[in-house]
Amino acid sequence: MTNNAIWIVGASSGIGREVALQYADKGVEVIISARSKEKLNEVVTFKPDLIKSVPLDVMDECSVKLATYQLFADGEGPKTVILNAGAYAPMSFDHFSADKAMEVMDVNYSGVVRLIERILPHYLSDGSGKIVVVASVAGYQGLPLSLAYGPTKAALINLCEALRVELMGSGVTIQLVNPGFVKTPLTAGNNFPMPFLMEVEDAAASMIKGIEGNAFEITFPRRFAYILKFIRMLPYVISLPLIRKGTSG
Ligand SMILES: NC(=O)c1ccc[n+]([C@@H]2O[C@H](COP(=O)([O-])OP(=O)(O)OC[C@H]3O[C@@H](n4cnc5c(N)ncnc54)[C@H](OP(=O)(O)O)[C@@H]3O)[C@@H](O)[C@H]2O)c1
Repeated sequence: MTNNAIWIVGASSGIGREVALQYADKGVEVIISARSKEKLNEVVTFKPDLIKSVPLDVMDECSVKLATYQLFADGEGPKTVILNAGAYAPMSFDHFSADKAMEVMDVNYSGVVRLIERILPHYLSDGSGKIVVVASVAGYQGLPLSLAYGPTKAALINLCEALRVELMGSGVTIQLVNPGFVKTPLTAGNNFPMPFLMEVEDAAASMIKGIEGNAFEITFPRRFAYILKFIRMLPYVISLPLIRKGTSG
């Protein structure tokens, strides 16, 4: 493995898988992680010379430790990591469940925190490295059905904002990816309209383009993100009824 390799956590399906394949198509070495060994192996078969699988469960501290030890041994290691693993569980007030909320938080937020804790010291001692965190536009604003998922993404956005500021001048870059709706297994079960739904190939291409640059936030489709950002700026007395109206029936 070279320093130019890119490590994608959450690459057995959906956006992460497609990002891995597009990087490999460009000749970039990719390390892919997720829990499902079979699905990872299937991705490896597309470019076995460039794609390497390192199975990992972000909810399991030992698994995170082992994978990062394996990849960053001897001062080597990928100089870009994309922390993309995520779980989605629709939850509304009438099915409110602390267990479900904490399970989603464990994957989406704690998983990222566990990995950053292990990766950051390597990047700081080298004075270089890029950590890309995949959150969601669902983290901009509380949304119906998103009682378990939305708060995990809001927490990631807040974490990345703070890290980006703290790490200025350190040589370590934090980038935040906030996708809108993308056609993947994660959204396949949604039975409500998904405005500006994107194909996974387009989403992955937008993500890679953003990672090539240095902007803090990478978002797609932009029109949807800008609409949500605008709603976020409105006073609650306007924005909350507007969201209710826009998302009911
Ligand atoms: N699709 C959208 O519309 C959309 C919108 C906004 C944000 N996002 C975010 O984009 C990211 C990718 O989502 P996607 O749509 O591509 O979903 P996906 O197809 O379900 O992919 C999720 C990935 O995360 C991995 N993962 C889940 N739990 C894990 C765990 N405990 N440890 C390690 N890996 C784990 C899955 O692999 P295994 O199950 O094999 O572990 C899979 O590779 C997520 O963070 C999601 O929240 C998606």
